[in-house]
Amino acid sequence: MANLIINGGNSLSGSVKLQGSKNSALPILAACAAVDGVSVIHNCPDLTDVTAAINILTCIGCKVSREGSTVIVDSTSANEFRVPEKLMHEMRSSIIFLGALLARFGRCRVTAPGGCEIGLRPIDLHLSSLRSLGAEIKEQGGFLECRAEKMKGCTVTLAFPSVGATENIMLASIGADGETVINNAAREPEIEDLAAFLSKCGAKIEGAGQSVIRISPPKTLNAAEHKVIPDRIVASTYIAAVACATGKVAIKEINVEHIAPVLPAFEAAGISMEFKGNELLVSSFSRPERIKLIRTMPYPGFPTDSQAILMAVAAKARGTSVITEKIFENRFRHVPELIKMGADIRVEDGSVAVVEGVENLHGATVSATDLRGGCALAIAALGANGKTVIEDIYHIDRGCEGFEKNLCELGADIIRA
Ligand code: UD1
Repeated sequence: MANLIINGGNSLSGSVKLQGSKNSALPILAACAAVDGVSVIHNCPDLTDVTAAINILTCIGCKVSREGSTVIVDSTSANEFRVPEKLMHEMRSSIIFLGALLARFGRCRVTAPGGCEIGLRPIDLHLSSLRSLGAEIKEQGGFLECRAEKMKGCTVTLAFPSVGATENIMLASIGADGETVINNAAREPEIEDLAAFLSKCGAKIEGAGQSVIRISPPKTLNAAEHKVIPDRIVASTYIAAVACATGKVAIKEINVEHIAPVLPAFEAAGISMEFKGNELLVSSFSRPERIKLIRTMPYPGFPTDSQAILMAVAAKARGTSVITEKIFENRFRHVPELIKMGADIRVEDGSVAVVEGVENLHGATVSATDLRGGCALAIAALGANGKTVIEDIYHIDRGCEGFEKNLCELGADIIRA
């Protein structure tokens, strides 16, 4: 299996166009199964997770084609409510098809995704919410057998603003009778993007992006054309790359509002960021300053997906930074790998990382432990002395389109071998 080999020390310069958001594209592609006709989804990143979503759509009988970053889904002949285990396990987010298939067929058979690298990731909130809508869900031999002759809109109050559960409720509710209200809904930009697509398909949705979402389905939902929002997590990855490697890079097609939660951390690190419309000019020519304190939270708090990436910056900053992970229980697996590169990081109580910045990181052979952890290692390697070899890079390919190609165009020295 290929590795990334990174020779650190090159400054970055030039411009990079931001990819579409993976976490938006996946539920929107799932939604294509629930609506009738030909949906055209622009700005879908070319990632293994997107391919996995396309494979599920194809398996249930949709005709799917790809033209560059546009995915065209014709759901007219969708007729299969069972998704094989192998396809479900290709990506964790496949659980999002549960709501979509219930809306489309009134039944489905899928497998539970199980835990993953970053934590247990239970789906209890997804299941209890769908049961409130009238779905009968039996867990049998690893399968979720779900039936709902007719779902009925209702009020669902989430114990935690789960992104996936909010999306599953939104998707299922478009196949229900009457209004569904989600209290304590997730407020992430990806929720607003899904709502924007479903609204184009004819649903009446109020409050997406806020804590209370109201969804009223029309009699029929028709396919629509939509452009996926830019990826705010990959945006923070490029900013962090400049912070670690130094240089001056323009990030094009960025949404300023969506990355607001990470900006204070980069400002604390002394990174210069200048917005010109939907372009961000990032520059940094010296060692980062300490970030002081980061605590991951649901949006609009600091995103857990940017935590590892900012830790790479903190690892070579001047002074001590403290990073607290509040969303997932196992999201510091990149720490021992960063330590192999010379980082000085101490984890307390499993959820607090005390990062004493060091002047120089050095190359090492490390393993990408998960998607964002892998990106963090690559970023750290850009600013490290010598050669870093990153193994298990399939994690990075799940979320970052053209990762090393884009960084090489900015002047980085990376090969895949
Ligand atoms: C989504 C994102 C992921 C991001 C996460 C948090 C996608 C494809 N993935 O994941 O990149 O890191 O949001 O911003 O959009 N929980 C439960 N029971 C449930 C559901 C969740 O206890 O039924 C817990 C989880 O274990 C976790 C927390 O809630 O501790 C947040 O999870 P959630 O918001 O659901 O994340 P995902 O939708 O899985």
